[in-house]
Amino acid sequence: MQHAAVSGRYPDLRLRRVRSTPALRALTAETELSPRHLILPLFVRKGTKLREPVASMPGVFRFSPDEAVREATLAFAAGVPAVILFGIAEKKDPEASGAYDSNGIVQETVRLLRAEIPELLVVTDVCLCEYMSHGHCGVVEKAAGSARILNDASLKLLSRVALSHAEAGSGLVAPSDMMDGRVSAIRGALDSEGFEDVPIMSYAAKYASAFYGPFRDAAESSPQFGDRRSYQMYSGNSDEALREVAQDIAEGADIVMVKPALAYLDIVRRVKDQFRYPTAAYAVSGEYSMIKAASERGWVDERAITIETHLAMRRAGADIILTYAAKDLAVWLKG
Ligand code: PBG
Repeated sequence: MQHAAVSGRYPDLRLRRVRSTPALRALTAETELSPRHLILPLFVRKGTKLREPVASMPGVFRFSPDEAVREATLAFAAGVPAVILFGIAEKKDPEASGAYDSNGIVQETVRLLRAEIPELLVVTDVCLCEYMSHGHCGVVEKAAGSARILNDASLKLLSRVALSHAEAGSGLVAPSDMMDGRVSAIRGALDSEGFEDVPIMSYAAKYASAFYGPFRDAAESSPQFGDRRSYQMYSGNSDEALREVAQDIAEGADIVMVKPALAYLDIVRRVKDQFRYPTAAYAVSGEYSMIKAASERGWVDERAITIETHLAMRRAGADIILTYAAKDLAVWLKG
């Protein structure tokens, strides 16, 4: 033994030499990043053979359902077990009716993916913003010179959306709206229609964030007036995230999510430590685009920095990572 001197219970660290060999590092690594933890977001819109590049997110496309199947097949073959669908509405109205249409874009794509890739977990994002003419995540009541979100009216629509996803075959519904009480409303709606086994992943601690900019381009879901600060969280708050998560767990969430990821890893860690619950982190559009933009200029090493940032999310306590880089990561991690 090198460290013969033992003071109290612990060896004297001053005498300890740190040996680090590749084999030892592999044997003792505390955190593992593997494709099995990843969920790939896919934007889908009506049509066939569509693969529209999203300008602000190089490598990300708006797919027609047939092309979404092709992309999901590649990701699945590389080891990514799940995708999450975001629909781009054909028509928008103040009731977000496109969101719960049984022949809507998400419902159609879910059915096709389930038929073509039965082992793939198909997650569906439950929100109204993509389908609302005003682009907000809830029902809006407008009065002279002002507007407000109607929380409880929104719950009815959100439940209807989640139910339509479950009917289409969604394997996990993920409400991202941040209305109060939506997890229990959705749980109740699913249970009463025989979908007790469809789990809920709630966007529990979702911050109002500039990192969503490229997503709103991709999904055509920017609010037409105002912003989302009345229902998304202030980035300076941390205890509030724990209250939001506690609430969603009490209401029946099976997985809780923190979003965005990179700038909120302290929140991921607090949530994991406090609740010991399945925890997801969403590496959002702006995080992806920043790395893409810098690596296109040759300023950072895309592969190394993508692996490092996602490893950091796992180290912070994320069991699951939703990331636009899922397919690339899966291929890199295999290699
Ligand atoms: C919809 C929703 C958003 C994201 C996921 N679901 C946008 C928003 O809240 O404006 C953002 C995802 C991303 O930026 O990658 N409510």
